[in-house]
Amino acid sequence: MKERLQTLKQEALDQVNSASDQRALQDVKVYYLGKKGQITDVLKGMGKLSKEERPVVGQLANEVRDEITEAIETKQQTLEKQAIEKQLQEEAVDVTLPGKPSQIGGSHLLMSVIRDIEDLFTSMGYQVAEGPEVETDYYNFEALNLPKGHPARDMQDSFYITEELLMRTHTSPVQARTMNKHEGKGPVKIICPGKVYRRDTDDATHSHQFTQIEGLYVDENIRMSDLKGTLNVLAKHLFGEDREIRLRPSFFPFTEPSVEMDISCKVCGGDGCSVCKKTGWIEILGAGLVHPNVLEMAGFDSNKYSGFAFGMGPERIAMLKYGIEDIRHFYTNDVRFLKQFHRV
Ligand code: PHE
Repeated sequence: MKERLQTLKQEALDQVNSASDQRALQDVKVYYLGKKGQITDVLKGMGKLSKEERPVVGQLANEVRDEITEAIETKQQTLEKQAIEKQLQEEAVDVTLPGKPSQIGGSHLLMSVIRDIEDLFTSMGYQVAEGPEVETDYYNFEALNLPKGHPARDMQDSFYITEELLMRTHTSPVQARTMNKHEGKGPVKIICPGKVYRRDTDDATHSHQFTQIEGLYVDENIRMSDLKGTLNVLAKHLFGEDREIRLRPSFFPFTEPSVEMDISCKVCGGDGCSVCKKTGWIEILGAGLVHPNVLEMAGFDSNKYSGFAFGMGPERIAMLKYGIEDIRHFYTNDVRFLKQFHRV
């Protein structure tokens, strides 16, 4: 029996040694130390031994069992350590690899142009005012000196929702709304950006939805020269100090007199080229002195107060400034287009 124990011990230690993973080690443990294991088997057979032999073999069996148990524990620790090391190695992160660049958004070009104009005017004491895009016939037309049936309504083909409701065709209704709120007391000094809608067929220069920025300054003694000075500051801010402006007579029902502002062509410097259609000038915006009827309808005394107003299209400004040839680029939102202007 002693020999058997010695052989078992040697075998067990060899197998513990060569166990390559925790499962194999567990099998070894069960085979030698389990309930039906080899060592247990020896202990069970001790009854057949003589009285003298029993304690000697018993002690040896215990020693062998302890030795094997200890070897298994030591091996277990080694295997665990190896397993962790292997996992660490496999899951190691190479911190020197270059990262995946994330896409950073930016302002839409139209928003940048609008903000730029807002900033210029707020620096001159204007406030930003907004109004609804679904507008009443009254504010979109009537309060702007365009009574029902007035032929000048044809200048702006409209999307009507009902007889009295439509998608606003310009930002000018915000003038009338804001003046109403002031209850006849000036000054009113506002800049109104927003979306507008017209029944147009979309092409390179037309869109059924576009943006406008409106400006309005009503106070005592506001004159044409104030308008001209303001537009001059605006033109130079947008297109450069060396740009000239000129005002041409025009017609808008809500302004009298009405003008259109041109800037000298930046491409040819005024000599005439394809951009300015050989005229040396490029049309930028409409403006004028607020019609007395508009002031009166909004509750302002037109003998005491006067004002100027102007309206422009940020799309047109952006197209001229950045050489964009198709207005649809602003709305189709191809990131390859938009990205070029993220830093504008
Ligand atoms: N509302 C006019 C348009 O959309 C522009 C404009 C605004 C003209 C203010 C004069 C004064 O065409």
